[in-house]
Amino acid sequence: MTDSTRRTATRRTYLMCQPEYFTVEYSINPWMNPAEPVDGARAMRQWSQLRRVFTSLGHTVRTIPAEPGLPDMVFAANGATVIRGTVLAARFRHPERQPEAAAYQAWLRSAGYQVARDPVAVNEGEGDIIFTGRAILAGHGFRTQEAIREELAELFGLPVISLRLMDPRFYHLDTALVVLDADTAAYYPAAFDDAGRVALASHFTELIEAKDEDADVLGLNAVSDGRNVVLPEQAAGLIAQLRDAGFTPIGVDLSELLKAGGGPKCCTLELR
Ligand code: ARG
Repeated sequence: MTDSTRRTATRRTYLMCQPEYFTVEYSINPWMNPAEPVDGARAMRQWSQLRRVFTSLGHTVRTIPAEPGLPDMVFAANGATVIRGTVLAARFRHPERQPEAAAYQAWLRSAGYQVARDPVAVNEGEGDIIFTGRAILAGHGFRTQEAIREELAELFGLPVISLRLMDPRFYHLDTALVVLDADTAAYYPAAFDDAGRVALASHFTELIEAKDEDADVLGLNAVSDGRNVVLPEQAAGLIAQLRDAGFTPIGVDLSELLKAGGGPKCCTLELR
């Protein structure tokens, strides 16, 4: 098998939320500066392009209506965790985002998903909780509480690997790690502690290490279907590493959403 054929894509269903009310009007992560203007029309164009990329790859994109007063609702990944049709609702750390949880929960329920009872621990959905195919990775330290571990294990019946996040710029796990397929991930080693790096090395057979300059543009905030990897086009080094590893990287420009600390993955909740 050649490098370019050893990766296989599977069709996915994604939930996205249009950035209709997107702004940066508060700061809950180091990327957010309310004094820096956001171009709303440009954000909308960039988001629409991301959606087009997904549909052109054969994926299904569903959308949840944006709600006024919730400028970060565009970051659908944080809305919940959906594995095998079961939903763990989000519980946001910051009051500014807390009402988003109910909106996502209501949408998922009406779409026929089984929503479990309200979580006890703070958790910001797929931003920190990542299904690898065999286990669940759960990031903690800035947003999600470590205690989500027990709730995840009980609800989904899967092994949970807790990972402590060390760098405030990489405040959600999906800013520092992307699962490319069940055996392969790319990550930014400096965002984790020793125990985390060891745990990742023992879970994945192949680990791609992102360089500082690619992590710094949120290059790891990527969406993989097993073969195609949609990531910030600014992450040139990581794009080359992914290509060398047999994946098909597809760069997108989400520079307006980066002003809130978000990228392609943040805008995308996978409905499994
Ligand atoms: N401004 C948002 C926040 O700080 C960005 C969320 C990004 N989402 C993600 N999945 N990393 O909560």
